[in-house]
Amino acid sequence: MSFWTRRKAIDTITAGIDGAHQLKKTLSWPHLVALGVGAIVGTGIYTLTGIGAGLAGPGVILSFLIAGAVCACAALCYAELSTLMPAAGSAYTYSYAAMGEPVAWFVGWSLILEYTLVCAAVSVGWSAHAHDLFKAAGFSELLLNGPHVTLPGGGHGLVNLPAVIISMAVAGLLAIGTRESATVNMILVAVKIVALIIFVALCLPVFDPAHFTPFMPNGFQAHLPAGAGPDAAKVGVMAAASLIFFAFYGFDAVSTAAEETKNPKRDLTIGIVGSMAACTAIYMIVAAASIGASRAEVFSKSEAPLVFILETLKHGKMAQLVALAAVVALPTVILAFMYGQSRIFFVMARDGLLPRALSKVNAKTGTPVLMTLLTGVLSAVLSGFLSLKDIAELANAGTLAAFIAVGASVIVLRLREPDRPRVFSTPIWPVVAPAGILGCLYLFYSLPEKTQRYFLYAHLIGAVIYTAYGMRKSVLAQAEKAPG
Ligand code: ALA
Repeated sequence: MSFWTRRKAIDTITAGIDGAHQLKKTLSWPHLVALGVGAIVGTGIYTLTGIGAGLAGPGVILSFLIAGAVCACAALCYAELSTLMPAAGSAYTYSYAAMGEPVAWFVGWSLILEYTLVCAAVSVGWSAHAHDLFKAAGFSELLLNGPHVTLPGGGHGLVNLPAVIISMAVAGLLAIGTRESATVNMILVAVKIVALIIFVALCLPVFDPAHFTPFMPNGFQAHLPAGAGPDAAKVGVMAAASLIFFAFYGFDAVSTAAEETKNPKRDLTIGIVGSMAACTAIYMIVAAASIGASRAEVFSKSEAPLVFILETLKHGKMAQLVALAAVVALPTVILAFMYGQSRIFFVMARDGLLPRALSKVNAKTGTPVLMTLLTGVLSAVLSGFLSLKDIAELANAGTLAAFIAVGASVIVLRLREPDRPRVFSTPIWPVVAPAGILGCLYLFYSLPEKTQRYFLYAHLIGAVIYTAYGMRKSVLAQAEKAPG
């Protein structure tokens, strides 16, 4: 059998998930909406709103709507596959069954890229909100900013030390076995949302509709400003959508809870579409309030735009409170993604595509210490020296690739195994799955050329690793070689 046609059988994936290991069905759709909103709301809205508004102008509101709609399609496909194959590994595992090993490797590698970059991006966002605290503790601007930042007095930053510190701190916590606790999570969800509500409430009294014209100063389609080099940032509503797409992921948290829902068909549909719709609405309201209170071109310069706007409105105390909410709540997003990273790595190593030694679980802590620390170090280095925009866009490229694979897996499996019982079926799948794929392709196309190039380089490296290692060592390859 050629490696191209190596596929995992769905029955092998779900084997072992028997009654004894079934999770209790205790969740209903309100729990899922809360879970989704909690996992999704983070750096995206707290920091990228500003950069997005700089790219699209007030039209950034439309960017949120577009990114949300694409994610809703992808999320419904996720739900179908996660209930069909309720096993760890998410998009990587689904692709292995639907499209075979090389595609699965491509998706797994994309997820590794994505998860590490999300940790780095959220660390940079966290650092922007913790800036004043570190400043008060005596840190100089040189150590609070990466080399891409021009300092107020001239010159450039050296390293974004707070981002490095938070990356390593979360990796350390995870390595010693810290897990997200449901109670702490609920409190932090409330903190994040209440801070956004306070922000909107303070912006409304000074809301000026005049700030909304022109609505799309840079047009709709992503494009380079006239005379800009190919590595310059693309602008327009779609360029902003391809960046703030970042604000929406995390919803796989909802689909992974599929096994625990009482009525998966109803609860998952409402849970997924509901949390997407709720986040899209929250984001659009926050973006509209920001633009109404300030001007897109003014607050877009800040990496903590909501705090910046409140400061300009002379709500200094409230600005500090919103910053504090971000400082307290954002590390859970890093924690969730670093944990996700170790799970993906673990599953890929178990399948023989990566060396098992890397995902070895420490006997004392019960965690894959080496892998966790490696992710922490990578995230620390990236966040210490790169800009939030660059990191988030590359994370988006990896995520878009995974979402495309998820949509394609739904189509392939529907055609190949139409009669297999499905706990949850994507509604009108012949429309939703292709719409998700096309939406992701359009967002990918709207990313900066530099990001697309780096994504390609990352996958060339990945292809070399697969050819040199996984192609021969994978469990399926070994099984092919075994006699009989
Ligand atoms: N959606 C998550 C955030 O915005 C990754 O932080």
